[in-house]
Amino acid sequence: MSAGLIGVGKFVPPYKLTNEELENRMDTSDEWIRTMTGIEERRIADDETDTSAMAYFAAKDAIEDAGLQPEDIDLILVATVTPDRPFPAVSTMIQHKLGATNAAAMDISAACSGFMYGIITAKQFIETNAYKHVLVVGVEKLSKIMDWEDRNTAVLFGDGAGAAVVGQVSEGRGILSFELGADGSGGKHLYQDEYIQMNGREVFKFAVRQMGQSAVNVIEKAGLTKDEVDYLIPHQANIRIMEASRERLELPIEKMSKTIHKYGNTSAASIPISLIDDLADGKIKDDDVIVFVGFGGGLTWGAVCLRWGK
Ligand code: UT7
Repeated sequence: MSAGLIGVGKFVPPYKLTNEELENRMDTSDEWIRTMTGIEERRIADDETDTSAMAYFAAKDAIEDAGLQPEDIDLILVATVTPDRPFPAVSTMIQHKLGATNAAAMDISAACSGFMYGIITAKQFIETNAYKHVLVVGVEKLSKIMDWEDRNTAVLFGDGAGAAVVGQVSEGRGILSFELGADGSGGKHLYQDEYIQMNGREVFKFAVRQMGQSAVNVIEKAGLTKDEVDYLIPHQANIRIMEASRERLELPIEKMSKTIHKYGNTSAASIPISLIDDLADGKIKDDDVIVFVGFGGGLTWGAVCLRWGK
């Protein structure tokens, strides 16, 4: 039996914080941010819209897109490092709001790799026939843990949510291979104290090395070659990191997802948000081979190779 994504949904807050506005708030420039990161603007949620609210909107759309009712969901996994509060879990909050009365619920803390950890956890339940439908949400309200005085981090991140229902798909489609990993010795390079603390240089080096390698590994594990890959969706952290993984796969520029200019780095939400925008833009069609690859705090990483379609 194969597990795949059978419905998707996203939510981004309407307010766009532009590089120009940041120039007025701190010692930075539109030019620096664009050339060093690829970001032009990012979405910031208002005080009334916490993580669970964004997760709910994305989840509701994903369930509808899958042609299901909330009662059809067996398990909810929410990947986030910015829950409304330490507990109850965001997954239980949206379980209630959705009316997903038959679903178990738990959160996953794997930072920017969280969506990959989520869909791979979901895949295990589907392929063992334990559950039929698992809702996976990647969501962050990073704006609430950002130090707006720290130009090293404040320009990078944004808020948003992306969701997918994982369920059974036809033979040959769905998740073909994956790799998940962690190296806790690098935890000191990216963590939350009161605010996000980051050694950008160290994270950058790790990301360039790991993203390329993990992408290559999942392609091999799927029994495919680089030239059989139709589309790459890397974690949208920095255009230079994304470009390095694209070059490693020798893919032309149009075969890589790029939404970082619109949303900045939305951590666990970045891959599902990109996927949904790319689907809407007609960049992905049935039977395309897609690679998701991401990295994040922990340090953690994850990559997934899948063949699109139900
Ligand atoms: O999801 C995972 C989360 N984290 C990441 O993905 C971060 C990965 N790292 C990065 O993306 C990059 O390291 C950054 C974009 C954060 C920084 O790029 P860099 O090439 O590593 O530059 P740097 O930190 O070495 O800084 C270069 C210069 C420094 O000035 P000096 O010392 O050369 O005079 C910084 O002070 O750029 C300066 N700088 C800025 N200038 C204007 C740092 N931040 C800014 C800023 N505006 N916002």
